[in-house]
Amino acid sequence: MRGRRGLSQTIEDYLTEWSDRTGITVEVWALPTDRVPTPVADAVYAVLQEALSNVESHSGAHTLSLALTTSRTGLKLTISDNGVGFTPGTRAGRGLDLMKRRFSEVGGTLTVNSVVGEGTTITGHI
Ligand SMILES: Nc1ncnc2c1ncn2[C@@H]1O[C@H](COP(=O)(O)OP(=O)(O)O)[C@@H](O)[C@H]1O
Ligand SMILES: [Mg+2]
Repeated sequence: MRGRRGLSQTIEDYLTEWSDRTGITVEVWALPTDRVPTPVADAVYAVLQEALSNVESHSGAHTLSLALTTSRTGLKLTISDNGVGFTPGTRAGRGLDLMKRRFSEVGGTLTVNSVVGEGTTITGHI
């Protein structure tokens, strides 16, 4: 899926194409420089794809922000949009479940926070 390129390069390329296509501005606050283990990278990439698909389909946002950092305490992923938001707990869809499952499969946790009229933030730790 990602071939020989690293996770950060793959994400940058994906975001550039996604932003061009959707017209949604992307702000990248951080991407890791060190190598991320393949199962973790695959989970992050899968979550990113679903999160961006939701932003594109449901949010009406004009800006998406992303931060992905790694440290000795683990990996942290934050994806935020400034779209319409929704009331958490009222929209149990497959995509939201899938994102949580992908992170729990690699020992992580993922939380979806959303405020109507403010936007949506997905926070994950592995
Ligand atoms: N970024 C977002 N902005 C606004 N609403 C969202 C966002 N992400 C998810 N939602 C809401 O949560 C619902 C469930 O999302 P999901 O589980 O991915 O299912 P689906 O995308 O197939 O509808 C969406 O239909 C939408 O109402
Ligand atoms: Mg979805």
